[in-house]
Amino acid sequence: MVLLPILNIVSHLLFSISLQELKDVLHTVPEIVEMIGDADTNRVLLLNDEDDEDDLKSALRSAFTQLMSASKSLISKAISELKRRLNSESEVRPLTAKEALVLQLEKQYPDDVGVIAAFFLNYVKLTPGEALHLGANEPHAYISGECIECMATSDNVIRAGLTPKFRDVQTLCAMLTYKQGFPEILQGVPMNPYITKYIPPFDEFEVDRCVLPGGASVVFPASPGPSIFLVAGGEGTMLHEESHRSDVISEGDVLFVPDEAEINITSEVELLIFRTGVNHKFFDTFMNGK
Ligand SMILES: *[C@@H]1O[C@H](CO)[C@@H](O)[C@H](O)[C@H]1NC(C)=O
Repeated sequence: MVLLPILNIVSHLLFSISLQELKDVLHTVPEIVEMIGDADTNRVLLLNDEDDEDDLKSALRSAFTQLMSASKSLISKAISELKRRLNSESEVRPLTAKEALVLQLEKQYPDDVGVIAAFFLNYVKLTPGEALHLGANEPHAYISGECIECMATSDNVIRAGLTPKFRDVQTLCAMLTYKQGFPEILQGVPMNPYITKYIPPFDEFEVDRCVLPGGASVVFPASPGPSIFLVAGGEGTMLHEESHRSDVISEGDVLFVPDEAEINITSEVELLIFRTGVNHKFFDTFMNGK
C-alpha cells in the first residue's frame, strides 16, 4: 500500500518503533508496564540490537499481544491513569508529540486499547510530495489529513483498535511482521517538470503525481499496462493521442486508460492528478526475461 498526501499534512501511525524507543517507552510509561507485566517488560529491556532478529520479534510480539489482549477493565484503568498522569505532567513540562496525540486519541476513542498501543507505533507526518509504503501485515492507523491510498488487490483488512468496526486481536497479533524502525519516506523521482513517480519496493503498482499549472501541457508516456487516473483538483482536457478522444476533466474524475496509450493533458486551472498502474519494474523483468 502507498499513501501520498493530497494538499495538506497527513499524520499517520505505523508499527513499530525501534528497540531503543520501545525501551524508552517501558521506562517512561508505567501504565504499559502494568498492562504487559514484569516478565514481558524485562524480556524487552534485556534485549539489544545485536540480538538475533527472531528474538527481537518474538519479544515484541509477546509484549504487544499481551497489551492488545488485556481485559476491558485493565485497559480502562490504564487509560484513566495515563490520562490523569499526562494532564498533570503537562503543567510542568511540554508533552511529547506522541503524548499529546495519545490524549487526542483518548478523546476520540475513550477506553480503546489503541490509545495505549499508539506508543508502540511510529508517529509519521507526511507533507504533500512525500509518500509512504506499507508492506502486508504492517499495522498502521490513519490520524488526519487527506491522502491518496493505493492498495494491491485481495488485501484483507484486520482491525484491532481505534475503530468502531469488528476487531480480531488474536489474528492480528499472530500475523504481524514485527518489523522495527522508522519507515522509509519516498520523495519520488521527477520524470519531467510536472510529474513525479513514486516506486514502492513491491511489483504490484507505482504511483505518479502530476501538478500541472494552468495553461501548461504534459504527456504521460504510453505504459505497457493499463492505468487509472484520478483528478484531485483543477480543470483541463485529457487527450488520447491515438484515437483523438478528448475528455474534459475536473476534480473528482476517475479515468481508465488502456495499455500502450499516450495521454496528453492540458490544464485550464492548475491540475493535481494521480496515476497508478503496474510497477514498471514488473515489465522490465518480464520483458527482458530477467
Ligand atoms: C498536447 O496538447 C496540446 C494542446 O492541444 C498541444 O499544444 C501540444 O502540442 C500537445 N503535446 C504533444 C507532445 O503532443
